[in-house]
Amino acid sequence: MIPSVLPTYNRAPLEFVKGEGAWLTEADGRRFLDLGAGIAVNALGHAHPALVMALTGQAQNLWHVSNLYQIPQQQALADKLVDNTFADTVFFTNSGTEACELAVKMARKHFHDKDQPEKVEIITFDGSFHGRSSAGIAAAGSEKMTKGFGPLLPGFVLLTFGDLDGVTNAITDKTAAILIEPVQGEGGIRPVPDAEMKALRRICDENELLLILDEVQCGVGRTGKLFAHEWAGITPDIMMVAKGIGGGFPLGAVLATEEAASGMTAGTHGSTYGGNPLGCAVGCAVIDHVADTEFLAEVNRKAGLLRQKLEGLAAEHPEVFDQVRGTGLMLGIKCKATNIDVVNAGYDNQVITVPAADNVIRLLPPLTLTEDDIAEALTRLDKVAVQVEASLASA
Ligand SMILES: Cc1ncc(COP(=O)(O)O)c(C=O)c1O
Repeated sequence: MIPSVLPTYNRAPLEFVKGEGAWLTEADGRRFLDLGAGIAVNALGHAHPALVMALTGQAQNLWHVSNLYQIPQQQALADKLVDNTFADTVFFTNSGTEACELAVKMARKHFHDKDQPEKVEIITFDGSFHGRSSAGIAAAGSEKMTKGFGPLLPGFVLLTFGDLDGVTNAITDKTAAILIEPVQGEGGIRPVPDAEMKALRRICDENELLLILDEVQCGVGRTGKLFAHEWAGITPDIMMVAKGIGGGFPLGAVLATEEAASGMTAGTHGSTYGGNPLGCAVGCAVIDHVADTEFLAEVNRKAGLLRQKLEGLAAEHPEVFDQVRGTGLMLGIKCKATNIDVVNAGYDNQVITVPAADNVIRLLPPLTLTEDDIAEALTRLDKVAVQVEASLASA
């Protein structure tokens, strides 16, 4: 009999009842160090007082009115994002997938309204992840996500990650945009080198294409800048954001330049819940914290510390771990043992990591992780490695 919850997830047998900072607790009191943050979502950790206050304060006044009316919290969050980024304008969604939908629509509408309706194709890269909608799976193109869900939405040209020549060769009169994650998350924590980000920007400029960045996972302070593309010193035309911006409340956004967004006039797009008062009140509190230069400096300091210790750990356990990669607090350890076995051994040792493609485990902790948390992470990950070594030896 099919379970009452549609069985599309492989869930771990863990059931948390409370969260605080980087820690999750089960009903029996067992505490887990959360280095996954709900897949890069709980940017300020669990139950951050400022977020609790923002949410409960808003909940006592007004939950929902719809976008038929003014929403001051939405205006405030849009203003903060515009003030702190390349963007001139923002549309709020409930998720990263919906942000992807709008990013694609916005790019096509831009060229449609400029009398270039043939420009509809979007260049994307293997290993990427842009959500599970029809556009999202067509954009990422992997068989794992698309098999059985045909016919696929046309208009995406999938290239090999890192193949810049391939990009230049793939551009035709139909190309509208390049869509890329500055750091692939699901694909196994694969950062796009700064030089390549710059090259993609240049290619877009030279060929009159829009650069769409998917910062759903790598944005909102995760790499130690408010948005990951800042490291490369470039700006996109359109950017997808979600996850961290809501700190755990479902919230996403598309940020764009005035020029890129020029086709999106009244009636061309909408969402019942997108940008509702609850989500935006929380989003404002998140951005107030994360956009602060001292906060970001701390993220970078702690990221350096964590990375250095992880590299030591990997060197001490060469049968389990191969190499540490990533940037900021978006780190991956490519494993020699099977990554799922390492994640499961983490559950046994009460430390949470997240598997990704390419046999990687992801460490996406709350950005508020403390030095004590880092020390505890290493103690627990060392136990994980010893446990995996023992099971490899007895296999
Ligand atoms: C880079 C990226 N884009 C898009 C998405 C889809 O976001 P959501 O699951 O909020 O719809 C994700 C989710 O993991 C993601 O990592």
